[in-house]
Amino acid sequence: MQKAIGVLTSGGDAPGMNAAVRAVTRAAISKGYRVIGIRRGYKGLLRDDFSELSARDVSGIIQRGGTVLYTGRCEEFVKDEVQLKAVEKCRALGIEGLVVVGGDGSFRGAAALSAKGVPCIGIPGTIDNDIACTDYTIGYDTAMNTAVDMIDKLRDTAESHSKCSVVEVMGRNAGWIALNVGLAVGAVSICVPEREYDINAIAEKMKKVHASRKQHFIIVFAEGCGDSREFAEKLTELTGIETRDTVLGHVQRGGAPTLRDRVIASEMGYYAVELLDKGVSDRIVGMKHERVYDVGISEALAMTKEFDDRLYNIANEISF
Ligand code: ADP
Ligand code: F6P
Repeated sequence: MQKAIGVLTSGGDAPGMNAAVRAVTRAAISKGYRVIGIRRGYKGLLRDDFSELSARDVSGIIQRGGTVLYTGRCEEFVKDEVQLKAVEKCRALGIEGLVVVGGDGSFRGAAALSAKGVPCIGIPGTIDNDIACTDYTIGYDTAMNTAVDMIDKLRDTAESHSKCSVVEVMGRNAGWIALNVGLAVGAVSICVPEREYDINAIAEKMKKVHASRKQHFIIVFAEGCGDSREFAEKLTELTGIETRDTVLGHVQRGGAPTLRDRVIASEMGYYAVELLDKGVSDRIVGMKHERVYDVGISEALAMTKEFDDRLYNIANEISF
């Protein structure tokens, strides 16, 4: 049987995952492999939900959001016996290497499969950018651009009515989206889980700025900071400025990937196949200082990501 490479997307979907699937498929075919596209993450492997992908099957997907392989969460995959079943399935299919596009949880599954004899390479795909071994994750750039578009629209109405708009953005426990989006929309304040915020200090700043003839405000609030509605209500009380809350939600995960996400996904997908082709296993592909590299999965999972205090301080200092 011709050797095969499997590819799956797992965890939350992210724009650019399709570009990664396309790159993996085309790179593998060009190196002489068959490609098996596994649907709905690890679930598809266990339930025989897969199909062979040709070069044409991945035509016309580089510009599409979501993931044509669908994604899924498979809670039982933490169990040893379930992982062994997945290994058997890979053997039966002739899968000699598996590319897993997802986040930290998905990489733990990939590490387990690697240890059990199926070489796996992880590619970071999540809008949250909360994976320590890489400066960028696939989907992050698109999600931020979507949030900026939405907040620019909210600004028009906040400005017309001289109101304050508190916008809750995604990011799970990380404030990367909030930080960059907040700076990009000129938010008067950015709340991130990595740094404590003082609502009284924010209110004082708003009152001071209000007195200097600025009549409308945008505050970007990371979902990891708590309840943005409560925050907005309290801010109205403290400032006397009508403050409305908008939760951007899942819209941030959709839409056509940006150029940056398409390029990163293509580069990482190609690199993952190169690693498997060289017999390398149990690694994650990352990007540091604009260069693609790889790192061991357990080493990567033990890393912590340093918050960008410089950017945070710049945003604060110039927002008045
Ligand atoms: P993400 O990959 O975005 O972090 P999740 O944390 O939901 O998303 O993980 C995605 C999937 O990865 C889980 O549904 C499960 O199938 C698998 N997974 C998560 N944690 C583990 C683990 N400790 N061991 C094996 N597989 C895991
Ligand atoms: O990890 C991506 C993400 O969109 C997070 O930003 C968010 O906290 C979470 O997934 C939402 O997950 P779900 O779609 O399962 O509610």
